[in-house]
This record gives sequence, structure tokens and C-alpha cells, in this order.
Amino acid sequence: MSEATAPAPNPYNKNNPFLAKITENRSLSKTGSAKDTRHFIINLEGSGLHYNPGYSLGVFPKNPPALVDELIARLGLDANHGIAQKDGSTKPLRKLLLEDLTLNRANKKFLKAIAEKLPAGQKKDELSAVCANEEVLGEFVFTRDYLDLLNEFPEAKFTAEELVDNLSRVNPRLYSIASSIAKHPNEVHLTVAIVRYSTHGREKKGLCSGFLADHAELNTSSLPVFLAANKHFKLPDDDNTPVIMVGPGTGIAPFRAFLEEREVRGAKGRNWLFFGDQHKATDFLYEEEFEAWQKNGLLTKLDTAFSRDQLAKIYVQDRMRENGAELWQWLKDGAYFYVCGDAKRMAKDVHQTLIDIAVKHGGLSTEQAEEYVNKTLMKDEKRYVRDVY
Ligand SMILES: Cc1cc2nc3c(=O)[nH]c(=O)nc-3n(C[C@H](O)[C@H](O)[C@H](O)COP(=O)(O)OP(=O)(O)OC[C@H]3O[C@@H](n4cnc5c(N)ncnc54)[C@H](O)[C@@H]3O)c2cc1C
Ligand SMILES: NC(=O)c1ccc[n+]([C@@H]2O[C@H](COP(=O)([O-])OP(=O)(O)OC[C@H]3O[C@@H](n4cnc5c(N)ncnc54)[C@H](OP(=O)(O)O)[C@@H]3O)[C@@H](O)[C@H]2O)c1
Repeated sequence: MSEATAPAPNPYNKNNPFLAKITENRSLSKTGSAKDTRHFIINLEGSGLHYNPGYSLGVFPKNPPALVDELIARLGLDANHGIAQKDGSTKPLRKLLLEDLTLNRANKKFLKAIAEKLPAGQKKDELSAVCANEEVLGEFVFTRDYLDLLNEFPEAKFTAEELVDNLSRVNPRLYSIASSIAKHPNEVHLTVAIVRYSTHGREKKGLCSGFLADHAELNTSSLPVFLAANKHFKLPDDDNTPVIMVGPGTGIAPFRAFLEEREVRGAKGRNWLFFGDQHKATDFLYEEEFEAWQKNGLLTKLDTAFSRDQLAKIYVQDRMRENGAELWQWLKDGAYFYVCGDAKRMAKDVHQTLIDIAVKHGGLSTEQAEEYVNKTLMKDEKRYVRDVY
């Protein structure tokens, strides 16, 4: 293609996000669930954005208006006070607090500023001791937001400029895309676990998941988003290649996308899904869709692990172990092995289980199995791929 006819690169990215519309905010957790996991549909029409299965969507959240107003009132500030910006413009304090600064969790800088502002005395000495120890300081701010701190230390006063200078900027959050654009033109679907907890007598929520669940407006072009490509987390090029997908909880998201894509493409490769969550009755995300795919043959195998439906926990890796011989055979047949979801515990345990299966069913020594999983599958053949967080 000549330069003159080459399409212009898409202008939307992290630094220039597209203002998308949320068209659906639906609960996936059924009544009685301990969790609040939701399905969001976000419309990208007019953006020209295109994604592949395995990509994530970046979302810029906003703070809850009531929290912003309470903070401004607590400090006796003027909501319309203009705050000078780097580019020479000014932005009203309220708008800045709503859009640009993180309010749901306090930072260490603000606590240190409070310690400096406190009048001499026992409270100042105690807080200064907290600030002098990084570990204690980290624990202190972990459960508190700015209102908690101002409730505890009402003597500390801040001007609008001081407040803004001591807060942290908002970072966008990434979400694995749960849809295939081939099946849902212009749409991105997300599977989001809403973070909710209560500390110091007040209800708190995750900045972005709480915003999406409770505050983001539907059907208005107001959600700043961008696409984050993932070079390695993608379906095999050959549609005949079998795939094994391990995605407990919200880790299911990219596998819904993979299955939709394979269905649209008419891919003949076998598909095996391991899913797990707390209870079958309330937390079986996309149950009807997966059952329909089992019936029509797209989903060759579906193994579920509902951890809290019996006394002893059952996890996805227990199901892998039970099916070890067959899983090993799929790997020998060239299957890709994908893991998505919790990085801290689940992904590590699944990794170890894969090594154990290579020992038990592949007849390898522990060293050989580790080499096979860590090097051959992961690095050389790149068919063990993870998207964990
Ligand atoms: C590549 C990638 C893909 C992802 N895909 C998904 C996805 O598909 N679905 C999904 O739901 N998430 C996904 N995530 C996670 C997501 O990006 C966010 O991290 C998540 O939604 C939480 O963000 P938040 O802004 O709601 O919460 P934040 O404001 O970031 O707060 C979360 C923090 O709150 C604190 N917290 C939680 N409970 C308590 C408590 N009881 N007491 C004190 N503090 C507490 C913890 O420190 C926790 O880290 C993904 C992440 C990555 C990197
Ligand atoms: N604040 C909360 O109350 C709360 C609640 C849920 C999730 N979260 C957080 O929200 C995020 C998203 O959660 P999610 O919905 O994706 O689900 P998740 O918490 O990752 O849980 C999904 C399933 O994985 C199980 N699990 C726990 N440890 C495991 C391990 N080592 N190996 C395999 N499976 C394991 C869970 O069982 P068990 O939970 O029964 O052990 C559950 O059945 C996570 O980071 C999680 O920490 C917070």
C-alpha cells in the first residue's frame, strides 16, 4: 500500500483516551452471593478501535461526587476555586478532585503532611513515630482514606493548593476483554469484580470497579478508555490447535472472548475450560453461555470447581489433577495452556500442578518437568501463556 492510501493510525491511546458509552451494567452474581461481579458492555462506535481476543481495556475512573463534596466541606474549601495546571490553565477544585486525583485510599505523603501540621503535643509525636517507620506507615494508610484521616486529625487544615499537591493522581485500571469484536461489532464486554469493604466505620469501594458499578452514567459518551494489546496472550494462529483455559473468578473474561472468537471463526480445535468460584448456585459466571457451548460442541470439556459448596475447598488445580492423564495428552497433542485471574495464589498453584502432572503422567523427573513447563512450554514454544493480576 502506498503512503498516500495507508489508513491513518488510530488516534486513541492511553494519553488520548476515547470517550466511550457504557450501554449495560448487569449483575453476574446471583442473589445470596458474597460477591458483586458484573458484566459491562462498552460501546466504541466512532472510535475506529479494533481489538483481538486477549487484549485488555484501560479505563480512567472518577471519584464518587458525594465523597468529593464531603472532603471539600470538611476542609471548608471553595469547590470552584481554580487550581493552576501545568499547561497554564486553571481547573476548578471540585472537577480536579472528581477526575484527576485518587480519593479512595490515602497516601503516605498526606499523612506526613498532617504530622507536620499538627500542633506540638502527644498526637504529633505519635503520628511522627508512625511516619518514621515505612512498614507501620504503610499499614496505617492501607485501610484509611482522606476523610478517615481528617476525622482522626481535625486540627490539620489544608488550603486547596496544599490538598491537591499532597494527593496522588488517578491511574487507569486494566480489564481483560470478555468479548470477541467479531461477534459484537463496536462493543467491548468486561467482567468486573466490584471491590467493596468497610474500614473505620465507613463503607469503601475500589476506585474503578466502584465507579463502574455505582457512578458511571449509562448511554453517555463519557468513559475515557484505551486498548492495551497483549502480544502473547492470544489464540493460536492454527484454528485446529486445542486450547486449555484456566480462569477462576474474573479470570474467565478472556476465555469467553476466545470461545466467542472460535465460534465465529468456525475453528475446529478442541476447547477445554476450567472455571471456579465460591458457589455453583450464585457464582457460576456466564453459566448459560458455557452450557450452551457444551451442548453445541464448541466447548469440548468444562470442569468446574466451586470452592465453598463443601467442607473442604476444591480449586481449579484439583480438577486439573483429577484429569491429569487427559490434560497431559492434550499438551502432547500441541494444546496451548492459558491461565487468567489471581496472580498471588491461584496462578502459582496452577503452575505447580502443571509441573506435578508432567511428573506423574509424563514420567519426567521433577527437574525435567520444571524445564518442560518453564522453558519448553513457556519460553520456547510459547504455548503456556498467562494474564494474571
Ligand atoms: C491485565 C489486567 C487485567 C485485569 N482484568 C480484570 C478483570 O477482567 N476483571 C477484574 O475485576 N479485574 C481485573 N483486573 C484488576 C483491575 O485492573 C483492578 O485492579 C481492580 O478492578 C481493582 O481496582 P479498583 O480501582 O476497583 O480498586 P482500587 O481502588 O485499586 O482498590 C483495590 C485495593 O483496595 C484495597 N482493599 C481491598 N479490600 C480491602 C480491605 N478490606 N481493607 C483495606 N483495603 C482493601 C486493596 O489494597 C486493593 O488492592 C485486571 C488487572 C490487570 C493488570
Ligand atoms: N474483598 C472481598 O471480599 C473479595 C472477594 C472476592 C474477591 N476479591 C478480590 O477480587 C479480585 C477478583 O476476584 P475474583 O472474582 O476474580 O475471584 P477470586 O477471589 O480469584 O476467586 C475465584 C475462585 O478462586 C478460588 N481460589 C482462591 N485461592 C485459590 C488458589 N490458590 N488456587 C485456585 N483457586 C483459588 C476462590 O476460592 P475461595 O475464595 O473460596 O478460597 C474462588 O472459588 C481478587 O483479586 C480477589 O482477591 C475480594
